[in-house]
Amino acid sequence: MKKPLKIFIVASETAPFAKEGGLGDVVGTMPKYIKALGHDIRIVMPRYYKIDKSAYNLKHIGGPLGVPMGIIGTLWGAVFEGKLHNSEVPVYFIEYENFFGRDGLYTKDGEGYLDNDNRFVFLSRGALELAKMISFKPDVIHVHDWQTAAIPVFINTIYKNDPIVGGSATILTIHNIQHQGNFYEGLMDVLAVGWEHFNFLELEAYNSVNLLKGGIYNATLLTTVSKTYSKEIQTPEYGYRLEGVVKDRANDLYGILNGVDYDEWNPETDKFIKANYSENDMSGKAMCKADLQELMKLPVRADVPLIGIVSRLVYQKGIDVLAASIYRLLDFDIQMVMLGSGEAWAHFFFGKIAYDNPQKFAVKIGYDNCLAHKIEAGADFFLMPSRFEPCGLNQMFSLRYGTLPIVRATGGLNDTVDNFDEQTNEGTGFKFYDLTPEAIVNTVGWAIHTFYNNKNAINKLIQNAISKRFTWDESAKQYEELYYLAVKRKKGK
Ligand code: ADP
Ligand code: GLC
Repeated sequence: MKKPLKIFIVASETAPFAKEGGLGDVVGTMPKYIKALGHDIRIVMPRYYKIDKSAYNLKHIGGPLGVPMGIIGTLWGAVFEGKLHNSEVPVYFIEYENFFGRDGLYTKDGEGYLDNDNRFVFLSRGALELAKMISFKPDVIHVHDWQTAAIPVFINTIYKNDPIVGGSATILTIHNIQHQGNFYEGLMDVLAVGWEHFNFLELEAYNSVNLLKGGIYNATLLTTVSKTYSKEIQTPEYGYRLEGVVKDRANDLYGILNGVDYDEWNPETDKFIKANYSENDMSGKAMCKADLQELMKLPVRADVPLIGIVSRLVYQKGIDVLAASIYRLLDFDIQMVMLGSGEAWAHFFFGKIAYDNPQKFAVKIGYDNCLAHKIEAGADFFLMPSRFEPCGLNQMFSLRYGTLPIVRATGGLNDTVDNFDEQTNEGTGFKFYDLTPEAIVNTVGWAIHTFYNNKNAINKLIQNAISKRFTWDESAKQYEELYYLAVKRKKGK
């Protein structure tokens, strides 16, 4: 047996403590499975002030944590320790009121905080100082997205010869390449790694500091959250101007699909839904549908196809194209239920659509985990017209609930949904390729035509979908392999 590893996960979100999207789900689940493989894995994240210390039984540890912030000087934070839900995985929370003592994780009223650069450089450097403080010598430091992408840069510069973290291999997972942590060049003086690293091959991009770029060049290995996305980000359409950088490191880039937390997303045990059901007895699903229709004040009809959407209402998710197709969609005999929040125009637009079409379209603007479960269970179809989707979790939840995904074939949507084959009745959902209103309307049309006219096919698709699994056991093994590879690479350096 191989030697168990010491692993530090550093991230800006971990469910259930703080989550804006799938990143929080992933960081909140994956480490439990790595732990089960016998490794010492620990998480570091900010102590946002909405994380209630007493509710989670967080304990203060150590003395104050000094975090050198270049020309700002050393900032002194505090560290609290808790455990990941239902597990023995330690989670360290770095507290510093000036940075994390506010309501949002990244934004207020849709605008990013102006000091997000300092906030997350502080988290990144703070994690390394914390490792030193508790004498935890990680074999691997696994970082996520731009918020912690400075860590591989620090490891290769300031901490290069550090006895605790200098030998750590680094893995950067890209959950979303659109957000890169682009900041003014003065951030170099806060990073304090030396201006010689402000160059085209390291931290500089288009005259700004680009933290993600720095991470991509410096990490021992890179991953993304699906195979298709790992290819897509090497192209101009998806790379958001980092495609060249990603291509340079394509040999070190791996696509590992996220798993699903089936303890939470399982129609057999789900506490949020009206009636539990399983692939052997689907009768509860009809009750979930009626419950959802009633809750959203739509006519309670079993015969009408109900399409669900749970999404951040942002450009990434293609909701502008959905908006352009909505009148034609509502010409069909369908119902739609939307849950989400994001760009202000979308709140008004879809609010007005609901107001004008109370028989067909219902929306809730906001974040509501219970309703998200009810939609997964109560809808017949689940629509995701994403412009890009690195992995996407909701379509995997939908499959588990026998709710057929209608998706744009991009990123993880492409890798997890199999298109309906009318000859064989194989498949788990409906796919389209072009992001156009026509493609959305045609594909929804195809799905509901099948719903109305080919019940055999729909029932077969539902059975195919509900028996699909995307387990963390599988993905955790792939991460474990990469952790060993990263350690080997680091030693070979
Ligand atoms: P992304 O991270 O890009 O938003 P994912 O599909 O990976 O997309 O993850 C989204 C996660 O956030 C899922 O767990 C989903 O249920 C949840 N979610 C998104 N919007 C809402 C909302 N308005 N209410 C409840 N849950 C939401
Ligand atoms: C990002 C992506 C999403 C992915 C999630 C978790 O938020 O937008 O597709 O599922 O990260 O990896």
